[in-house]
Amino acid sequence: MSEVKTIGVLGCGLMGAGIAQVAASSGFKTIVREINQDLVDKGLGNIKKQLERNAAKGKITPEDKDKTIANLSGATSLDELKSCDFIIEAIVEDVSVKSEVYGYLDKICPSHTIFASNTSSLTITEMAAATQRADRFCGMHFFNPVPVMKLVEIVKGVRTSDETFAKAFALGKALGKTPIATKDNSGFVVNFLLVPYLLGAIRAVQNNIASIDDIDKGMVLGCGYPMGPLTLLDFVGIDTTYRIAEIMFKEYGEPMYSCPPLLRKMFLAGFYGKKSGKGFYDYSSGTPVVNKEIENYVK
Ligand SMILES: NC(=O)c1ccc[n+]([C@@H]2O[C@H](COP(=O)([O-])OP(=O)(O)OC[C@H]3O[C@@H](n4cnc5c(N)ncnc54)[C@H](O)[C@@H]3O)[C@@H](O)[C@H]2O)c1
Repeated sequence: MSEVKTIGVLGCGLMGAGIAQVAASSGFKTIVREINQDLVDKGLGNIKKQLERNAAKGKITPEDKDKTIANLSGATSLDELKSCDFIIEAIVEDVSVKSEVYGYLDKICPSHTIFASNTSSLTITEMAAATQRADRFCGMHFFNPVPVMKLVEIVKGVRTSDETFAKAFALGKALGKTPIATKDNSGFVVNFLLVPYLLGAIRAVQNNIASIDDIDKGMVLGCGYPMGPLTLLDFVGIDTTYRIAEIMFKEYGEPMYSCPPLLRKMFLAGFYGKKSGKGFYDYSSGTPVVNKEIENYVK
């Protein structure tokens, strides 16, 4: 097995930025690719701000911050990833977009390069089929916020080799995470169980069972969860959750995965959650308050 020195990260949104930060702070040369320079600058800027906050709070030393920043670089062209030993993809949850990117990278990357998708709900086997390296393709599913959350699910597709799986598992550990092994089924372990719960919370809002605030309060105080489901949905992204529900329902055909009409409406209205400023809550004033437009809509 060749050693991993350089990691490529595709996408510098919520997940890609976190993955790139963790890879660079774990000592890997990290190249993060976005679709345009503005998004590269925004993504790298967010990582730097996060590192500065961590240094100011004494969570990391100023030297660690500088080393991490020195390990990080941005790119807009996929060609700049051809020197990577390992590529972790965290772009939009859309199989055709992901497959197109993988098909291109497969042609330009050396044969030892392993591809790992951070998909939440697509199957690894489907994306691997867009390449000639299905044996060197696996899933590495991280959790948000990546620098904080300890888990990474390592996913073995139908054709993932044992060597690739072992390498991804070892990389997960080298990134400071606790890996668990999971089969290539839509949602793996965590989303297989979590997504029906989150969609259930949206149905509870839709049916006006209780207020947005009280549904969240209920699950925090009644179940001891660190945050309520509607807060978590805003954090995950309403757009991403909408795509996940569509994919998982198509895969399993079970009503618990079907997309609640309210989720679709929020997606169409551009209420993507924290990232767009409004979801179930409105983040424009700094302190989150219930999004009145949703509250009025479901009344
Ligand atoms: N949000 C979560 O909590 C979460 C958790 C685990 C896994 N995921 C998965 O991670 C992936 C990314 O999700 P996210 O929440 O970071 O989304 P996001 O919308 O925050 O970021 C996605 C980024 O990908 C970029 N992008 C789109 N097409 C691209 C392309 N062709 N090349 C490079 N970049 C491209 C976009 O510009 C955007 O910045 C999805 O597959 C999602 O299912 C999300």
